Amino acid sequence: MPELRALVEAVFIEQVEEFTACAAFRRLECGGASTEDYHRFLANLVRTHSRSPQLIAFLYSLAPPDAAEEILHNLLEELGIEEESGESHPAMLEDLAAAAGLSPVLAVLERLAANDLRDIVSAPLMYRTLKEVGLAAMCEIVAFEFMLSRCASRIERALEAHLGLPPEALRWFRHHAEVDIAHAEQGLEHIDTYVRYYGLTHDDARGIVGLTLRENVFVTRYFDQASPVTPRSPDR
Ligand SMILES: [Fe+2]
Ligand SMILES: [Fe+2]
Repeated sequence: MPELRALVEAVFIEQVEEFTACAAFRRLECGGASTEDYHRFLANLVRTHSRSPQLIAFLYSLAPPDAAEEILHNLLEELGIEEESGESHPAMLEDLAAAAGLSPVLAVLERLAANDLRDIVSAPLMYRTLKEVGLAAMCEIVAFEFMLSRCASRIERALEAHLGLPPEALRWFRHHAEVDIAHAEQGLEHIDTYVRYYGLTHDDARGIVGLTLRENVFVTRYFDQASPVTPRSPDR
């Protein structure tokens, strides 16, 4: 379904443009954001991506045979097994959080990320079968890979220039700027392979993509969530 791939790619491009044009992103990039804004952005980013191995593992469990090997490779990268350093991506995020002074709230962020995953699993199903749930998950994961392949370096430069984070602490961004070029390309192909393998109609696939990306996922996850940036004061 070449037209499905083109449609999904067009929606991704539109969402990335909207994300980078929004006021919150422009402030981060030009240095006009407050330190708390940078911290909130980073807290939301850690929350969004700290369970990425589990999400990719979910995609792997549903992968059609023609996509399985690449998705497995992506999962092994997430876990650090395919990396020279042996470092997992959540470990890179932990370091990033520590460098930004967010260590005191890391446990809370990880709990929120775990709750987000639990919500995905326990929310009443919007769809009739697991194949639709899998397509929605794939669509959002590939959307982030598509965005990071285009924006991770810009974000990295902004955090170095305006928050003073050292290059070492920013390796999660450097890494995704590189590897997500291939992941995004493969992901667009996988969406197509998945839809054909599970026999979804073009209209059903379009409907699921439209519903998953009805709001800007990047703005929602990075700017609209209320993640803590300062340790909670002890209960009195
Ligand atoms: Fe990753
Ligand atoms: Fe990736």
